[in-house]
Amino acid sequence: MNKLAQAFSFRHACKQFNEDRKITSTDLNAILEAGRCSPSSFGLEPWHFVVIDNPDLKTQIRAVCYDQKQITTCSQLVIILYRKASQFTLQSDYLRRAVARELPNRDDETAIDIVSQSLINFLEQGLADGLTIDHWSEMQGYIAAANMMTAAAYNGIDSCAIGGFQHNSLVKILEKSIPQFSGDAWGVTLCLTFGYRVKQPADHIRWPLDDLCTFL
Ligand SMILES: Cc1cc2nc3c(=O)[nH]c(=O)nc-3n(C[C@H](O)[C@H](O)[C@H](O)COP(=O)(O)O)c2cc1C
Repeated sequence: MNKLAQAFSFRHACKQFNEDRKITSTDLNAILEAGRCSPSSFGLEPWHFVVIDNPDLKTQIRAVCYDQKQITTCSQLVIILYRKASQFTLQSDYLRRAVARELPNRDDETAIDIVSQSLINFLEQGLADGLTIDHWSEMQGYIAAANMMTAAAYNGIDSCAIGGFQHNSLVKILEKSIPQFSGDAWGVTLCLTFGYRVKQPADHIRWPLDDLCTFL
């Protein structure tokens, strides 16, 4: 088996981590890099990764994650945030910087206005067919999350995605903990717990490829 296939086989939803084993900063950095390098719609990277090591904060967060013990037993908790529709405006510093970095002249404010406006128009109208900007933005984070979990597994690190959380309560905790963070501007896509397993997992349960794929 090649190393990537081994990583997919190694990764499972780890339910309890070894509380005595911490992820090194080098390994944590490799996980975060996998998120950073992930593809996103229009290359807008509408995400932010909050890395939490603080035990008190983990305890508070566990309470709004249906008391799931991965939150407090993990080495690091990474919360994947997404930029809400309020950040996709002509005045948005984030959007203007994202647009500028693709331009030959990054100081060309007129070009930044034009490209930003066309992106906004596309997002507001092009996505109107049942998909909101918030939902579109939130989904991007899942790609980063998947890459982070694979990168972790590649380095022998376990993970568990935690989608079971009370969104608004979690946002309130983050508002209290992060200066200038606002739930008007940010939402939570997913929580990711990383660490080392305490016991071997059961085998993966998956449909066979024949049931999953249609070849035309
Ligand atoms: C978006 C998402 C949310 C999830 N939320 C939780 C969760 O809140 N708690 C949990 O224990 N596992 C959670 N999981 C893990 C899944 O239950 C798990 O991946 C699935 O049952 C398959 O098991 P495996 O990953 O071990 O193969 C989540 C997975 C994903 C992708």
